[in-house]
Amino acid sequence: MNVSTTSVESLSSDLSLISAHSHISGLGLDDNLQPRANSQGMVGQLKARRAAGIILKMIQQGKIAGRAALIAGPPSTGKTAIAMGLSQSLGDDVPFTSIAGSEIFSLELSKTEALTQAFRKSIGIKIKEETELIEGEVVEIQIDRSVTGGHKQGKLTIKTTDMETIYELGNKMIESLQREKIIAGDIISIDKASGKISKLGRSFTRARDYDAMGPETKFVQCPEGELQVRKEVVHTVSLHEIDVINSRSQGFLALFSGDTGEIRAEVRDQINTKVAEWKEEGKAEICPGVLFIDEVHMLDIECFSYLNRALEDEFSPIVIMATNRGISKIRGTSYKSPHGLPMDLLDRSIIIRTECYSSLDIQQILSIRSKEEEVDLTEDALALLTKIGTETSIRYASNLISVSNQIAIKRRSNTVGIEDIKKSYILFLDSDRSVQFLEDNRLQYIDDQGNVNLNVDVVADKMDTD
Ligand SMILES: Nc1ncnc2c1ncn2[C@@H]1O[C@H](COP(=O)(O)OP(=O)(O)O)[C@@H](O)[C@H]1O
Ligand SMILES: [Mg+2]
Repeated sequence: MNVSTTSVESLSSDLSLISAHSHISGLGLDDNLQPRANSQGMVGQLKARRAAGIILKMIQQGKIAGRAALIAGPPSTGKTAIAMGLSQSLGDDVPFTSIAGSEIFSLELSKTEALTQAFRKSIGIKIKEETELIEGEVVEIQIDRSVTGGHKQGKLTIKTTDMETIYELGNKMIESLQREKIIAGDIISIDKASGKISKLGRSFTRARDYDAMGPETKFVQCPEGELQVRKEVVHTVSLHEIDVINSRSQGFLALFSGDTGEIRAEVRDQINTKVAEWKEEGKAEICPGVLFIDEVHMLDIECFSYLNRALEDEFSPIVIMATNRGISKIRGTSYKSPHGLPMDLLDRSIIIRTECYSSLDIQQILSIRSKEEEVDLTEDALALLTKIGTETSIRYASNLISVSNQIAIKRRSNTVGIEDIKKSYILFLDSDRSVQFLEDNRLQYIDDQGNVNLNVDVVADKMDTD
């Protein structure tokens, strides 16, 4: 089988939404992996962050695979935040996949297929390939426009310090030259196989050409020798990408739509064999990445046995799990276990504990969040919000930031004051108050048996007579 690994450029969107963890840009550690009190958007939770730093180091060394770590702690204590910080600190070459336990059940795939895909998305294969490039300084680009304007033709004159050649240009090349805004005096590299053009910089001989300079113009030497050179390029793809590219029914587009369906086991076997071969031949390197499974207690016993087996596999990432459960039932069984995980899985996991925050930590996190959402809070407002955060949860308090801001805007103020926080606290319930409300008004809701009583008075009367 011919296994292809041509990487597909991912569609990166420029949208930058403000999400729950968008303020976090790393674990906030110093060079010795010691946690700083407040850095990279991370505050407090020092022990857990130090532990995460050690795991980070192990991942970066790329020497271990098939290990599991469990982040355990009460809700809203930064378990997901720490995993996100860790993912930000990993280089671009280390794949990081994040799933929520419950997701496994909602995909249109079997549980094990969904898990297999998640595992294989988290394993990077660094592939070395030799490609032929044309590298030189652009002397002249000449484009002849046809009268009808449709088909374009042209010539590209390109040189090294030793030679100069003229290439014929077709439509596609002309378009990419224009897209990359290539002009005479640029040093460019053209991949002969794909036709991809990259601009390496401006020639030093053009350093006085102010017209063609931007603030970040990079100057490079005009290459020497032959125009055509062979170079080794390295690209990293995930095992899952290789699966998708090579499973015939899917094809390239499947990667973009995200709709990959089930991948046949034979395809995976063949790919595993091929990758192992490449590794032997020194053509490929395996980089175990990270698979983060949030709310892992939502998985059931079948998924847990899958995890146990997959961790033993030759190609296995590092699995980081998070849970807020204490002693609780393992889904799909009738017995209880710490964190809702089976003992054999717990046994192979190292456990990181997160602790409840002090009110100072909460204040700092909320202050970071308000900056992230570009909301100005008065000192009083932040103090009240912190109090709410300590009594309910950070998540609830931080949700109040944006609603309070809307309330402030309505009264034409740019700053959120204590009264705006009060109003939003009354308007939007936290979970405790919501539960209390439900208990007080139980009869107005549909119960487990599907019974609903719209007329509360009648119900009350009936209960009296019973
Ligand atoms: N140590 C921290 N530093 C900065 N922000 C934090 C920290 N811990 C939690 N947060 C933020 O508080 C909110 C709740 O934390 P989260 O990680 O979702 O909690 P958990 O996953 O433990 O339930 C998130 O917006 C998160 O980014
Ligand atoms: Mg979480």
